[in-house]
Amino acid sequence: MTGDTVRIVEVGPRDGLQNIKDVVPTATKIELINRLAQTGLRTIEATSFVSPKWVPQLSDAKTVMESMKLSVAKGDISFPVLIPNLKGLGAALALDVQEIGIFLSATEGFSRNNINCSVEESLERARAVVDRAREQNVRVRGYLSCVIDCPYDGRTSPLVVLRMAKKMLEMGCFEISLGDTTGTATPTDIRRLLETLLREIPAAKLAGHFHDSFGQAIVNVKEAYRMGIRAFDSSVGGLGGCPYSPGAKGNVATEDVVWLFENMGVNTGVELTKLAHIGDWITQQLGVSNGSQISSALVAN
Ligand code: HMG
Ligand code: MG
Repeated sequence: MTGDTVRIVEVGPRDGLQNIKDVVPTATKIELINRLAQTGLRTIEATSFVSPKWVPQLSDAKTVMESMKLSVAKGDISFPVLIPNLKGLGAALALDVQEIGIFLSATEGFSRNNINCSVEESLERARAVVDRAREQNVRVRGYLSCVIDCPYDGRTSPLVVLRMAKKMLEMGCFEISLGDTTGTATPTDIRRLLETLLREIPAAKLAGHFHDSFGQAIVNVKEAYRMGIRAFDSSVGGLGGCPYSPGAKGNVATEDVVWLFENMGVNTGVELTKLAHIGDWITQQLGVSNGSQISSALVAN
């Protein structure tokens, strides 16, 4: 081991399930979260409190979080939820949620399509959510989408990402998760983006959230690590995708991230074999192919 550590934010139960066509039984979601909680993962994004008209797949958020309450009380694993507005925050606070993720876009097109408002309006909305959450001692993570490319507006300038990330940090987010929402980034894009961001933002305040539409997500993780990033979002079995980013595939698979780092001598704290079996199980439950070759290979052997 190098003595180095990375922090993995498992987003499978949220990003992974928000775009599945068939209804996923609530019991399966709860089972997934409980199984993931046995692998050493310390942060598992459980669901989102968004409008059920926009994302019906996660309309059972309340039931899912009620079932997590016991584990939340243990205090050793964090189960953050995604929050778009004060209404969602109210519902989450009523369930004693300790950490939330707000989500904004660097680009107008995705902002309007995903949360039905302009970027400027989204900053106002987010500020109100962050203020209220912090009054209640709730930690707030910030997601920033379309940091490389936007399904509606095309390529994104790193300077625009820098401006947004700084605003989100100033409003009180403890970290900004940089979303390659479309999954079109290559390591060159990641390097260029981080060269700009790291001039003004410490690496410890940034995380990578890379979708895998073109099979580059794992090399993007490696490049971001090389540039100093130590927190990565990933999804068991490579599940995931946003209903408002047409054609985007799942997140980088958690199994692949763990395999990469553990073989580099970097500690993830996650038990890979257990995780691989969960990836195999959940993809079978959902009737989708397993997005992690590592997972398939480990389960087969
Ligand atoms: P809107 O239609 O402009 O809002 O949606 P509204 O205030 O007019 O509300 C419409 C209806 O939704 C009303 O119900 C509200 O009460 C209800 P009605 O009166 O018509 O019966 N409503 C809610 N219900 C429950 N919880 C709420 C809530 N808010 C309103 N929180 C809104 C605006 C933001 C709500 C909507 O656009 C929305 O929910 N969008 C979320 C879309 C989403 O979840 N996308 C996926 C997550 S983001 C992502 O995946 C990217 C990420 O992974 C990073 C990356 O990859 O880049 C994070
Ligand atoms: Mg995502």
